[in-house]
Amino acid sequence: MSRTLIVYFSRPGENYAPGGLVQLRIGYTAYAASLAESLTGADVFRIDMAEPYPEDYSACCDAAKAHLDAAARPALARWLEEGVIEECRTLILCCPNYWGTVPMPVLSFLEHYDWSGRTVLPLVTHGGGGMGRAAEDIAAAAPGAFIKEGLAIPGHEAAGAKLDIQLWLTAHGIGMEED
Ligand SMILES: Cc1cc2nc3c(=O)[nH]c(=O)nc-3n(C[C@H](O)[C@H](O)[C@H](O)COP(=O)(O)O)c2cc1C
Repeated sequence: MSRTLIVYFSRPGENYAPGGLVQLRIGYTAYAASLAESLTGADVFRIDMAEPYPEDYSACCDAAKAHLDAAARPALARWLEEGVIEECRTLILCCPNYWGTVPMPVLSFLEHYDWSGRTVLPLVTHGGGGMGRAAEDIAAAAPGAFIKEGLAIPGHEAAGAKLDIQLWLTAHGIGMEED
């Protein structure tokens, strides 16, 4: 079990890119999370909703906005294995910017656990809005955690962001984990 844990939320399907919508087999944030994995060797957990957001971009926007407006905490399909939280010292939390903040299923996940005393590094992919208020909302959902300066990556650049992610992780003292 690793002391650094990578958790991500991402959505394959229709997504925003400069010049129009594209069909993604792997979501942008999933790419970023896999780069963080290759740089740390850390365990990875994907946040899956019990009822995933639609693949259609505009339908997804509507559903996510409804969740935001209702401060919903949508049900998740699965949770971390027992003992993972106890072992974890640093959480690399990767998610897209949805409506200026994190997707509500990310708050479902965070609020389910006690992150106090852990370090949280937020990595947000976005379509131009950067981190938005992700850091503040993560901090509110993880009381007692140390929220470090996050990294914002334009979604369509995520696959080429290995160096940026490496520099950011190194700045926070995170590198390849020893076995
Ligand atoms: C429901 C929804 C809301 C979004 N809201 C924003 C936003 O407020 N600001 C922004 O910069 N990008 C926004 N985007 C674009 C995503 O943040 C961006 O495409 C992200 O990289 C998608 O990551 P993924 O492919 O891992 O799901 C939104 C996308 C969706 C689907």
